[in-house]
Order: sequence, then C-alpha cells, then structure tokens
Amino acid sequence: MTTDSLTVTDNRTGRSYEVPIADGAINAMALREIRTGDDDFGLVTYDPGLKNTASCRSSITYIDGDAGILRYRGYPIEQLAEHASFLEVAYLLLNGELPTADEHDAWVHDITHHTFIHENIKKFIDGFHHDAHPMGILVSTVAALSTFYPESKGTKESETRDLQIVRLIAKFPTLAAFAFRHSIGMRFAYPDNDLSFSGNFLNMMWRTTELKYEPHPVLERAMDILLILHADHEQNCSTTTMRTIGSSQADPYVAAAGAASALYGPLHGGANEAVLRMLDEIGDVSRVPDYIARAKNGDFRLMGFGHRVYKNYDPRAKIIRKLAYDVFEVTGTNPLLDIALELERIALEDEYFVSRRLYPNVDFYSGIIYQAMGFPVSMFPVLFAMGRIPGWLAHWQENVLDAEQAIVRPLQLFVGADERDYVPMAQRGA
Ligand code: CMC
Repeated sequence: MTTDSLTVTDNRTGRSYEVPIADGAINAMALREIRTGDDDFGLVTYDPGLKNTASCRSSITYIDGDAGILRYRGYPIEQLAEHASFLEVAYLLLNGELPTADEHDAWVHDITHHTFIHENIKKFIDGFHHDAHPMGILVSTVAALSTFYPESKGTKESETRDLQIVRLIAKFPTLAAFAFRHSIGMRFAYPDNDLSFSGNFLNMMWRTTELKYEPHPVLERAMDILLILHADHEQNCSTTTMRTIGSSQADPYVAAAGAASALYGPLHGGANEAVLRMLDEIGDVSRVPDYIARAKNGDFRLMGFGHRVYKNYDPRAKIIRKLAYDVFEVTGTNPLLDIALELERIALEDEYFVSRRLYPNVDFYSGIIYQAMGFPVSMFPVLFAMGRIPGWLAHWQENVLDAEQAIVRPLQLFVGADERDYVPMAQRGA
C-alpha cells in the first residue's frame, strides 16, 4: 500500500477503498467507485460555494492565506508593486516569465495600438440612460466586442487567442473611461498613444480642454500599482466564472463580460464601493464603536473586512495603506481615512474579529485612494475589473490549454418532489 492514499470504509457496506492522494488532493471521481450496489450512482462530494474543491491545476498565482503571501508566477506582490509596471505584470501572468526588453517593447506597442474601439460602440454607449451604472455599461460593451470579432471563437489557435488577449487588455480602459464619461454627460476623450497604459487611462477619464493631457506622475504610478494589486487572485468568483464560460468554448469577450458580472457583486469586486458607502454612513470617528457593535451583532458586515482565503492581513491592503499617503500628498487627504484607520484599530483588537481572523482586505483602503483621485464610487468595481482582466485572461488561456479540463458541469443533490401527476388548474385550491 502506498502511504499517499486515503483508506475509506463505507459503513453502509463494510467495504474499504483506497483512494490515492496527489498534490494534497483526492480525485473526486475516485469516490464514484464507492457504491452500495450496481444501481447506485456512487458517492459524490457536497460543497456549496466550492469551499474545499480544487477545480484546476494552475501555475499562475500562489496564495498562502494564513501567512498573508501573494505571488504572481513566483514573484512576491510587494516586489512587483515596487518595481514593475502593470503591463509587465500582465505579460508575466499570461506568459509565465517577465518580459525581456524586446518582448516588453513589442507587448507595450501592441497594447498601445489596440486601445481604440469601433465607433459603433460609442453609439450603443449613448443608448444607456444618463445615470446608468458604469459597471453595467462595461459588462455590456465588453460582451458586445464579441460581435465585432467573430473570429474570436477559434479559441484553439494560439494566434487568435493572443490577438483577443491584446484587444481585451487594450480596450478595457477605453470602455471603462467611456462608460464614465457617458454617465457624467461628457464627450469621450480618445486614447493618447504617447502615454503609458495608466497615464492614458487617466487621460481618457479626466481630459477636458487641454491639447495634451499630462498625468501627475505620482497618480499615474499609483494607478499602475492599484492595477497590479488587482491583476490576479487565483480561483475567486469572477475567475472561476471566466474559466466556466470559457470551458464551453465561448469567446473570451463574453467570458470576460461574465467574469465582470461576477465581480460586480458587493461580496466580491463591489466591496470597495460598499466600503465607501459604509464609511460615509459612519460619518465620524466617534460613531465607529457603535458600528463595530452592530457588525458583531450580525446586523451588517463590516465591508472590506474578512476574506475567504486570507486569515491574516491581506498583503495588498498593506501596500495600498502605504500608497494612500503618497496619493494624499498630491490630492489632499481624504477625511474618510481617519474613520477607516479607527475602524481597523478597534476591529484588530476586538475578540470577535480576532477569533474569526477577520483582517482588512484589498478593498478596505483602495476606495479611499480612488475617491481622493477623483473617481466616483460607481467606478470602483470598474477599476477592479480593469486590473483583473490580465488575470482572467491568463486563467482562461490556461484552462483552454489544459487537457484535463472539460466543460464545467457540477452535480446537485436533488431534494425536490418525487414524481407526481399534473393537477389541472381548477383543482389546485386557492
Ligand atoms: N463583518 C463581520 N463579520 C464577518 C465579516 C465581516 N466583514 N466577514 C465574515 N464575518 C463573520 C461571519 O459572520 C462568520 O461568523 P460566524 O462564524 O459567527 O457565523 C465568520 O466571520 C465567517 O464568515 P464567512 O461568511 O463564513 O466567511 P467567508 O469566507 O464565506 O466570506 C467574505 C468571506 C469576504 C465573503 C466575508 O468575509 C465578507 O462578506 N466580507 C465583507 C465583504 C468584503 O469585504 N468582500 C471583499 C473580499 S476581498 C475582494 C475580493 O477578493 O473579491
């Protein structure tokens, strides 16, 4: 008997089974052998929220939630945030290695020259109501890109895949900024190829009458760092959605639109929006203890606290907390920071939060910076999605190339009615 195995005794039948363990996991299909008889389907696992199920092998991002470690392709997030650019990180996530100088130049050139979107897209952005949430506009326009690039369905050809990857990373900021400009009734600002990825995004967001928009270098770098910190986070809700949609061989535009929709929820990428609304509602440092008490009572969740994976300080939150001070030197401070710091201070001393290992996550401080930089709250999930697109694409690509993968199709434990006969409406009672 090998030691890397699990011996299971089925007490219904008294039979024992040996299930191999590889990479710290058992193959769920091995459990199918465990049956009470020939007509038994076999044992399945029940895992709502997929809390203990590895659905793929991945070599992109490593997280140790207990130790507060996050690495992209082996590189610590702290080093990437300090030294790399967002496009360099995007290349790393997608290709597994940091680019050489030549690879980097070619990559930046390609992305820079795909930032324009078809003029028709502007027409349907115009069709959105004036107060449409920019995330709704982003989700719809990303999906609509699929209709402009019908060849994108050939997900098996690497050249086709590579081109869609470049297009999606390049056009995402344009769609994001256009969604914003529409919501405030301002004429769209077109991409400027002379600027960096983040500098150009700030240009498309804020440019008004100036002939040439010049981003403030501190804010341009802060934007880039924020995108780096959001670029990937392994198998979270939106990435799993990206892989799931991709598993049916749908094109990456509709898959990315689905992933962005998953990100939109307040428990995922919508959390930074929820944090700001919460801090606004608290309104003053003196009211923090009251809100902490309410969170402990279960009346509401402290947004920006807790994480499915991190049971320690989220390493991204640490970097953002520090970054906030650089940004505030340029923009002036955000009064909500004092409330956030007090909330963090009390929560980190409180038994309820300590025993549940609830620490600030990436969203706790990012919104405060975004707000200081002038972004409205509704743009926060859009910024998160813009940062996450290389991660989604890296996972989509990995999934497409993984011979072990199949179309996602989980099982259910059916707990509904047994067979029964149709009852005519007149006989159904009140
Ligand atoms: N405030 C108060 N209590 C909390 C919080 C919170 N933010 N988060 C978890 N808890 C409690 C929860 O009530 C439960 O207590 P008990 O054991 O007494 O029932 C315990 O902690 C465990 O919670 P859980 O819901 O089982 O944990 P989870 O791993 O399923 O949820 C989470 C993770 C992120 C959804 C959750 O912590 C949460 O809702 N946080 C607030 C929303 C948020 O900030 N989301 C952003 C996540 S980071 C960005 C991203 O990756 O998308």
